[in-house]
Amino acid sequence: MLTDNHGRKINYVRLAVTDRCNLRCFYCMPEHGLDWLSRNELMSYEEMMRICSILVKMGVEKIRITGGEPFVRKDIMQFLTALSKLNGLQHLTLTTNGVLTAPHVPELKKIGVQSVNLSMDTLDRNKFFTITKRDELPAVLDTLEQLIRHNIDVKINAVVMDGKNIDDIIPLVELTKNLPVSVRFIEEMPFNGEGNHYSHLHWHYMRILRKIEEQFPAIQKLQDAPNSTSYNYHIPGHLGNVGIIAAYSRTFCGTCNRIRLTPQGMLKTCLYDDGVLNVRDLMRSNLQDDAVANALTDALHHRAKDGFEAERLRKEKMPAHESMATIGG
Ligand code: GTP
Ligand code: 5AD
Ligand code: SF4
Repeated sequence: MLTDNHGRKINYVRLAVTDRCNLRCFYCMPEHGLDWLSRNELMSYEEMMRICSILVKMGVEKIRITGGEPFVRKDIMQFLTALSKLNGLQHLTLTTNGVLTAPHVPELKKIGVQSVNLSMDTLDRNKFFTITKRDELPAVLDTLEQLIRHNIDVKINAVVMDGKNIDDIIPLVELTKNLPVSVRFIEEMPFNGEGNHYSHLHWHYMRILRKIEEQFPAIQKLQDAPNSTSYNYHIPGHLGNVGIIAAYSRTFCGTCNRIRLTPQGMLKTCLYDDGVLNVRDLMRSNLQDDAVANALTDALHHRAKDGFEAERLRKEKMPAHESMATIGG
């Protein structure tokens, strides 16, 4: 079992497979995109397989592949298929914007993917365009339909943005009436790839909750799973659930069971750190697997206890410039 220096069990890895994205959500990256990584900077499929296999041997049970849209990366399905066969891996899952996912859903089901988190901030095509600068809502809705049809659990993630999609909160909640999905509203976080648009959290999770309660006073609190990022609710008579992720106002640190790998192989032991170890470079320097495993163990024994990085960002009002696309959420 993999534990950190504070006794927290680490069994969940989020692997971002690409920094490129086919959308331009304004809260994530500028319209001109980012300085994309070159092919050689990215971990190769062989390197990603190798590091995942080392991590699973060390006790990781769940791997979440993230993008943007993981399917932007060529041949990702072959990689997912190989990953799904790793002995000891219990959950292989994806977080995606859903633009290119629909045609791959049957295959995902076949390799054993049981759940997918889908980003969708609005159900209105024009607003979707305003937020993402791309007219791709129909493709995302197609993905949603395919996932449901194939009995894959879906969590819809919607970032709550003042002045942008507040009127979408209730229609998104209403999706849970007839669909077996969990719709989760996320507090906006200061990761937009530019570092200059964030000053105040307008939509604290309590405010989001109050807005939903106004419309659905019978809403009930559910018991949350131990490592859940969301507070979860159910509206009587609805098929699905509603969740709120207090990504900015609350810290998940006490029960944090996750680490992250960026597309260029940086290990992040906290969403807010800058990366503590480059595993790609370790692998390229011809280290054996056990030496790589030792380096990972060492990094996990120098892990911050409680999101002090988040505090630093808040207190010092540091310009936060990293894009969510390079972190993978
Ligand atoms: P599950 O594995 O299904 O629980 O999903 P998840 O909520 O961990 O993953 P998802 O990719 O859907 O992430 C949703 C959002 O949760 C992210 O965009 C973040 O806003 C938030 N989140 C995930 N992990 C962390 C974390 O370690 N710290 C903070 N502050 N927010 C996080
Ligand atoms: N604040 C909050 N959530 C964000 N996401 C991307 N950028 C931000 C941000 N600045 C969300 C996406 C996706 C998840 C992985 O991260 O909408 O659902
Ligand atoms: Fe939008 Fe996600 Fe792409 Fe960022 S990575 S532009 S949040 S779809």
